[in-house]
Amino acid sequence: MRIAIVGCGFVADLYMETLRRHADLELVCAWDRDAARLFAFCRHHGVRMATGLDEVLDDPSVDTVLNLTNPREHYAVSRACLEAGKHVYSEKPLAMRLDEAEALVALADDRGLRLSGAPSRLLGRPAQTMWKALRDGRIGQPYLAYAEMDDGLLHRMGVRRWRGASGAPWPYRDELEVGNTIEHAGYALTWLCAFFGPARAVTAFASRVVPEKRLGVPLARQAADFSVAAIEFECGVVARLTCSIVARHDHSITLFGEDGVLSTDDCWKPESPVRLHRRLTLRGRTFESPFARRLPLLGDAEARALSRKRRKVDFCLGPVELARAIAEGRPGRLPARLCLHITEIALAITAAMDGAARVAIRSRFDAIEPMPWAHA
Ligand SMILES: NC(=O)c1ccc[n+]([C@@H]2O[C@H](COP(=O)([O-])OP(=O)(O)OC[C@H]3O[C@@H](n4cnc5c(N)ncnc54)[C@H](O)[C@@H]3O)[C@@H](O)[C@H]2O)c1
Repeated sequence: MRIAIVGCGFVADLYMETLRRHADLELVCAWDRDAARLFAFCRHHGVRMATGLDEVLDDPSVDTVLNLTNPREHYAVSRACLEAGKHVYSEKPLAMRLDEAEALVALADDRGLRLSGAPSRLLGRPAQTMWKALRDGRIGQPYLAYAEMDDGLLHRMGVRRWRGASGAPWPYRDELEVGNTIEHAGYALTWLCAFFGPARAVTAFASRVVPEKRLGVPLARQAADFSVAAIEFECGVVARLTCSIVARHDHSITLFGEDGVLSTDDCWKPESPVRLHRRLTLRGRTFESPFARRLPLLGDAEARALSRKRRKVDFCLGPVELARAIAEGRPGRLPARLCLHITEIALAITAAMDGAARVAIRSRFDAIEPMPWAHA
């Protein structure tokens, strides 16, 4: 798949860490509206600089645009790309408003184009291992999930000094203004939605529990720094999802079933262990075994080699999956409607600022296929 990158910031540097390892992806050019950023990125990575978005969109050799711009630009950039006949792989969220995200999905459908997006950790070994154990009935009937997306006390971590490989500053303003729920809920939600199918309702509470962050972003512009949501899935499972940039770092996911508990320490990490605690019955009493069985992480030779290489996250898993789905004429594993669903849930949680409300979720998506190596 011949791709162009639009948005050459912090995350684009992360995509470049693995992009050239993937034969499915050929990077044609890159564009950023910030000339200095564009130049620094292209020089550092040896990428051809485009002269404008129009050049990218008019280039018939570009099939797909990786939209790596800031969240508030996603809608306009993705729309322009789809209107120009390009497939789009977007960083999350699809858009900052539900109607805009829906419009993008409708536009892609109308034009017969693919719209896919991040996060792509669902395609990695821990998610696929946990999902297979779930499908194999290792914990029996699941009924509850706990997912944490807590990032520590972010504003005290020296975030102004964080830089990507080509010098891109970490966009801490986005983190505070867009909010960590919109930025991060998707990591856990892609797993939970693939495992349990569509959600029908969300009851959430969101707040700014540390108002003064000393990063020059006025309180009125700050989104919630803490949110908690109860997500009701159509299948009957309920998930409690917490997102924060104030509580101790914790990216764990735990699934509770009648016969056991499955957990992983960090749904971001490519080699995060997956553990199974069985429920045991002794003399008529059932209890959770204190001993965890560490499940071998699934993966074919390619998945093993890629995730072990430097134990770094491979941001290109999603674009590679899109390239293969297009080439094989099959639905992708991160389809537009899954991205829309994730976006809708994250927006619903964010909208619950300072007050709980139960919100019906209207988007739906078809069942997602596991990776081929996690199928049997
Ligand atoms: N920073 C991270 O650690 C991280 C990790 C995973 C995902 N993401 C996601 O990646 C996306 C980008 O985040 P980032 O950290 O790279 O932000 P960033 O601010 O570092 O980079 C975004 C770049 O997009 C450019 N841009 C914005 N609008 C544009 C437009 N209309 N046309 C061309 N260029 C445009 C900006 O000039 C900037 O260089 C976000 O959706 C974010 O949620 C970020």
